[in-house]
Amino acid sequence: MEAKKLISNKSSLVGTVKVPGDKSISHRAVMFGSIASGVTTVENFLPGEDCLSTIACFRKLGVDIEQEGSRVKVEGKGLDGLQEPKDVLDVGNSGTTIRLLMGILSGRPFHTVLIGDQSIGKRPMTRVTSPLAKMGAKISGRKNGEYTPLSLSGGELTGIEYELPVASAQVKSAILLAGLQANGVTTVIEPEKTRDHTERMIRMFGGEVHSEGMAISVNGGQELKGTHVDVPGDISSAAFFLVAGAIVAGSQITLKNVGLNPTRTGILDVLKKMGADVTIEAYDSAGNEPAGNITIGTSSLKGTVISGDLIPRLIDEIPIIALLATQAEGKTVIKDAAELKVKETNRIDTVVNELKKLGANIEATDDGMIIYGNSSRLSGGTVASHGDHRIGMMLAVAALICSDEVYLEDSEAVAVSYPDFFNDLHSLF
Ligand code: S3P
Repeated sequence: MEAKKLISNKSSLVGTVKVPGDKSISHRAVMFGSIASGVTTVENFLPGEDCLSTIACFRKLGVDIEQEGSRVKVEGKGLDGLQEPKDVLDVGNSGTTIRLLMGILSGRPFHTVLIGDQSIGKRPMTRVTSPLAKMGAKISGRKNGEYTPLSLSGGELTGIEYELPVASAQVKSAILLAGLQANGVTTVIEPEKTRDHTERMIRMFGGEVHSEGMAISVNGGQELKGTHVDVPGDISSAAFFLVAGAIVAGSQITLKNVGLNPTRTGILDVLKKMGADVTIEAYDSAGNEPAGNITIGTSSLKGTVISGDLIPRLIDEIPIIALLATQAEGKTVIKDAAELKVKETNRIDTVVNELKKLGANIEATDDGMIIYGNSSRLSGGTVASHGDHRIGMMLAVAALICSDEVYLEDSEAVAVSYPDFFNDLHSLF
């Protein structure tokens, strides 16, 4: 497809955006609805390509799922209601789908083959298959089981205690989903706290999970019951507008109904630390996932250091934070973020290379990047998303502060998590 001409050299983005539902929570709502007994209804589901892949996989496993836009109805028949699929399960671009699905399938007494797109084919899987194999699942795949296509035979599982070698909510969740079906107790110990949507959802569906310090445990043999899930807006999608509002002169943007789960709000901490004009109006409600409205205005920014246990709380926002840092006075250092190399693309390389094309002063390190900021506009040129939705959206925001024309190759990648992104962005012009 032809490169998309982006809107560049803008001033003053003003208005309100209601970003679509949270991707992580939307995936989990369908998965838990599919393994629970009874009907689950989902409101504000994200109808992005990734979450539609999750629905397609569970339909192939025999689950009745109705989806119309952001409303979903799942007719769960419990774990035993899942049936051996007659065809391969294709997860598309979605790491969350394949990893969490493997946790569920490990305890099911049948065989499945899992495939995905080119990007999925480069993402490490033994981090998930190795603990699941310890529990009793039989999984094999290309390059000694590291990559798709994967073949999985599930069955009887035994609970384990497992220390995660990397901070990963996907791996944690896969083990907990297997643990719900295992004999005895399954405990996962995290090196750093990662997003806890799976734990919250187990409780929402009537199950039990115990968190103590860095350890999370579930008992096997739990039965979950269908429920109603109201998905808050995705803070990872809101992040593009938060940064746009902070760096495009004369802006004021309000984001409505954004998820404010503390395991996800690292970007807000960074914005405040860098001097952004950000106001958070959290709801009072005792909902399962906290939410609220966020307003951002343009201000002068200063560089910062982003590292340690902050990283899992903003891992998906690092591309757009790198752009933010180009507009801050002084140096911003992002470290302890080697996980970026195994996201939809190697996001250390794609962020650094693409922003360099626009004239940013940024360099890659082994576990992150260093950005030398100043408040001058970027230049322009032709950039590419490399099929990575978050790189595409980051570059569309970057174009706004470019003085010359900007063209984006592979712009359609944004549909993975935010099909209406360009419309919502243009609504602020
Ligand atoms: C996700 C967890 C994160 C995140 C991904 C979604 C999830 O990945 O980057 O976009 O829904 O659990 P890791 O847990 O592998 O770091």
